[in-house]
Amino acid sequence: MTNTLSASDNGTSPDGTLPFQETARTRRSYRGFLDKVVPDGVLDAVLQDAQCAPSNCNTQPWDVHIVRGAKLAELSRILHEKNDAADFSPDFSFDMGAFYGCYGERKNAQGKAYYEAMNVMREDKEGRRRAAALNLSFFGAPQVALLFMPSFGDNVRTAGDIGMYGQTFLLSLAARGLGGIPQTSLGFYAGTIREVLGIPAEMKMLFGISFGYPDETAPGNRMRMDRVPVADSVHFHD
Ligand SMILES: Cc1cc2nc3c(=O)[nH]c(=O)nc-3n(C[C@H](O)[C@H](O)[C@H](O)COP(=O)(O)O)c2cc1C
Repeated sequence: MTNTLSASDNGTSPDGTLPFQETARTRRSYRGFLDKVVPDGVLDAVLQDAQCAPSNCNTQPWDVHIVRGAKLAELSRILHEKNDAADFSPDFSFDMGAFYGCYGERKNAQGKAYYEAMNVMREDKEGRRRAAALNLSFFGAPQVALLFMPSFGDNVRTAGDIGMYGQTFLLSLAARGLGGIPQTSLGFYAGTIREVLGIPAEMKMLFGISFGYPDETAPGNRMRMDRVPVADSVHFHD
């Protein structure tokens, strides 16, 4: 008897997406993409999936701006100019020095892994600056999703909702053989991005997701970040 819900012979679901466990466990951040635009039909499916994300009181506070083509090139050029001029306009603070103890160690390990993948020595300040600035070229992705939100109170609950949306978006990409990378660094230019795209001042930017077809040979994709054991993060109370 044929079970129409079982995985097909090539290990994908009947709709062509990867099974959930494989999707969740193989998703990773990509820092190098092929020059190949995601077709509208595929992007629409990803957006439909992401729209199913949960949110506080079902407020669905995400306001998503997809940038492609000439507008993406223009935005990248302006972001590099702003970066060179140290002209930042974030809506939310980000203090790298605030990560204490094991969190600081994990942050340092992540930075080390990236610069090693890029063949940049620790003491090479200019090399590190150039490697970090690849964020502003969207790591070569031909499209980016910029995640904005309305501002309510201290914004923490709303930011959580945007995180829910972002991860659903990323998992949908992974399930379809695509990849993405969430980028707080794009949020450092929130004011500039609002200006370039004509986004109202009341919408605040949390982070962006560059996405597309991963370039598996790109130096930025050589790294793999590990995870601490579940027992380090999860506590049972019976
Ligand atoms: C909200 C958020 C913002 C991030 N911002 C950046 C960023 O600006 N640049 C970057 O290279 N990686 C960024 N990352 C990617 C993390 O470094 C990455 O998720 C982490 O190292 C774990 O690796 P993995 O995603 O490959 O599993 C961000 C991740 C999240 C969740």
